[in-house]
Amino acid sequence: MTTPHFMTAAERGRWDIYGPIHKGLRLAHGALLHRLGAADFASSPPHRLLADLRAHLALAARHLAHEDTVIHPALESRAPEAAAGVDDDHAHHKARLAVLESAIRGIEHAAAADRAALGRGLYLAFSTFVAEDLAHMGREETEIWPRLCDLFSDDELAALEMTIVASLSPADNIAFMRIMLPAMNRAERSALLTAMKSGAPPEAYAAVIEQAARPTLAPADMSHLSELGLAA
Ligand SMILES: [Fe+2]
Repeated sequence: MTTPHFMTAAERGRWDIYGPIHKGLRLAHGALLHRLGAADFASSPPHRLLADLRAHLALAARHLAHEDTVIHPALESRAPEAAAGVDDDHAHHKARLAVLESAIRGIEHAAAADRAALGRGLYLAFSTFVAEDLAHMGREETEIWPRLCDLFSDDELAALEMTIVASLSPADNIAFMRIMLPAMNRAERSALLTAMKSGAPPEAYAAVIEQAARPTLAPADMSHLSELGLAA
């Protein structure tokens, strides 16, 4: 086992380009893994669960695309080949995502007698994908992020993140915020929403609160946002 990487002094307080989205993906991976394990595939196809899983996998694929098109080219512009290892992980993930989609389709079209076995297969395939993605995201945060901190200023890292955020459709923005907001701690959440409230059109900010924050946060966490004037 390798030594755990703790944040060094050079990285403390730096722009955390991976942290919030990776926390959201970890939360959503775990929630779906739980639901797949508890699903009764034999009785009827769990259509809602399969639709939610498909939407989650699409979001995971878009996250990979954001890293592929924005973060990795920037990194390699200053450190050639620095993204090679994580590029390989991404290629592997994309193959896994295709396998998962065909497993979902298989259940949707299966005879009732086959559904329990196919459901188990989907559960195990997704659990393997989650395990690989957890290891991959850990590698990005402990190996790639320190390199980004060495090579880029915080303003440059923030600009890369804004390039990604600006490319999102309103629906994707809500979908990402729905997994990120409940996954972060109060200090991180209030900092993110404070920045968003000052920069986004009021109707876009209201949509984030009503469609992403309110449906996913505990009442006490919504009250915390109210106290800070961030709940509307
Ligand atoms: Fe990645």
